[in-house]
Amino acid sequence: GVPTLLRVTPSLLKLHRKPDDAWTAINGKVYNITPYLDFHPGGVKELMRVAGRDGTKLFASTHAWVNVEMMLDECMIGFLVPEPSLS
Ligand code: HEM
Repeated sequence: GVPTLLRVTPSLLKLHRKPDDAWTAINGKVYNITPYLDFHPGGVKELMRVAGRDGTKLFASTHAWVNVEMMLDECMIGFLVPEPSLS
């Protein structure tokens, strides 16, 4: 069916930082990286460094030539959005 995309705040992202439940945000898109962990050429440990947080900078500094948007398209679960403000 049509996938439902989530609006993910940084604090929600932070709850998903374990290998069996790992999310990251790259360029504003949020991915479930758990299914990809074992396929990452750079290894599980390196990829886990972006789990639970915005990995845009670290990703760009390691391999900006990799087309993450196409590669992880099937793993996309939503968009990173700002924390709601109370004011
Ligand atoms: C290699 C994807 C995150 C470290 C690679 C390669 C791909 C890939 C496709 C092979 C590139 C090539 O041979 O030209 C991804 C994706 C990521 C991600 C989709 C995020 C969702 C990271 C992070 C780190 C990292 C966060 C470390 C901070 C490495 C290293 C290699 C590598 C060290 C080189 C492995 C080797 O050739 O021996 N990654 N990566 N990656 N990645 Fe990642």
